[in-house]
Amino acid sequence: MPEGKIIICDDEKEIVRYLKKILHSLGYAVDTYTDGQTLLDRLETDPAYIPDLLVQDINMPGINGIETLRKVRGLRPELPVVIMTAFGSIDSAVESIKLGAYDYITKPFPIEKLLGTLDKALEREILLKENQRLTEELISSTAPGEIIFTSSTYRKVYDMTLQVAASEANILIQGESGTGKELIARAIHFNSARRDKRYLTINCAALTDTLLESQLFGHLRGAFTGALTTQKGLLEAATGGTLFLDEIGDMTLALQSKLLRVIQEREFTPVGSTEIRNCDIRIVAATNKELEREVAEGRFREDLFYRLNVITITPPPLRERKEDLVPLTLHFMKRFSARMKKRVDSISDDALRLLKEYHWPGNIRELENIIERAVILAGTNRITVDLLPIRTGTGARVATCDDGDDSLESVERDHILRVLKKNSYHKSRTAAILGVTRKTLDRKIADYGLTIPKNSFEAV
Ligand SMILES: Nc1ncnc2c1ncn2[C@@H]1O[C@H](COP(=O)(O)OP(=O)(O)OP(=O)(O)O)[C@@H](O)[C@H]1O
Ligand SMILES: [Mg+2]
Repeated sequence: MPEGKIIICDDEKEIVRYLKKILHSLGYAVDTYTDGQTLLDRLETDPAYIPDLLVQDINMPGINGIETLRKVRGLRPELPVVIMTAFGSIDSAVESIKLGAYDYITKPFPIEKLLGTLDKALEREILLKENQRLTEELISSTAPGEIIFTSSTYRKVYDMTLQVAASEANILIQGESGTGKELIARAIHFNSARRDKRYLTINCAALTDTLLESQLFGHLRGAFTGALTTQKGLLEAATGGTLFLDEIGDMTLALQSKLLRVIQEREFTPVGSTEIRNCDIRIVAATNKELEREVAEGRFREDLFYRLNVITITPPPLRERKEDLVPLTLHFMKRFSARMKKRVDSISDDALRLLKEYHWPGNIRELENIIERAVILAGTNRITVDLLPIRTGTGARVATCDDGDDSLESVERDHILRVLKKNSYHKSRTAAILGVTRKTLDRKIADYGLTIPKNSFEAV
């Protein structure tokens, strides 16, 4: 399907008219020039004038074709140029190729020949643009983030990360939302022997099956509706490097088996192709689902799970490493102060106590957001309780308490009971909603003397 703007530059008006008519009828936008200087003037004075292709004659009066080409290359280095030469002037054809023309065609030519050349030149331009986009995305996404911690709990995770980074093993990162899984994935790549190669990431939950497959494996032109050009997949783009598969728990079974083949056989087939390609890629995957349960319930392939699960890293939730709260809070205060061009460098005791008591269901991402908001709102250099949109206990204080007792314990007790009831006393689900472990919930139930009706869920 043609697209784009083509420029024709030739002093023979007959040819210009003829080509314009044909290209127009094929759906291209066409601009015509009958001498080189007028074209150069336009390119020079109008930087927004960015055509997709130039078809240029080499034998023109006035400023000659070679000179025109040389200047066009200076003004629009990316513009593909197809040169038309008269039969017998092979020298100028060769010179134009040396100057960077994409191809040349000898007059007189059958129109099909020209169209074939134009097609290839345009397709190449689209591919180049696509590659450039991929590279830009890559550059913006490769800065390894700074990992802040002091707790011994996180120290273990961090040491393990560095240790396994050096190996070639595929790694699974399993943890609650916002615990820093992506940060760990980056750390693995940038501490591995593959650090000079690409680190690419893809979110399996964000794309439809078809798109995810073609993004991973690439596709041939016409492989499906909308596949206008042949495109490389991430497996090829990141060859020698690391591919981070985020939210792998959301990948469909069909794609899981294709991924298994990549891991086991180190090969894959682009969409719409029958050709088998080899790949050299390290896979790091992350999920906030319990993959064991997904396997037990038939939503995740067991063999793939075992392949990925050779090494699992589990960043602990923030509430299980409260020592990290202060350094993380200071880190985010510093970062957002700098970004907002403010100086917010202290925090009141009350505010700090509140942060320490809160149970952080959204983990570090939630802390990051809350500190960002507080820095924006702060009228002084200090973060105070009123700038924090959280309350202790469960995150949302229960407004009414029958006995008028709104001590922390009482609010927490009521809230736990309410969530338990709402979930038919299903303990695991309740624990997940409250953002605590099953063990913590059991302890609280015992501490508060809550009664669980018989016949209720005691499920895992
Ligand atoms: N130890 C840490 N030090 C500094 N910043 C951190 C740390 N851990 C996480 N963060 C920051 O917290 C935010 C959330 O981290 P990240 O995106 O890695 O979490 P995630 O586990 O992938 O979350 P989700 O499951 O929601 O995708 C990011 O902005 C990250 O930079
Ligand atoms: Mg993530």
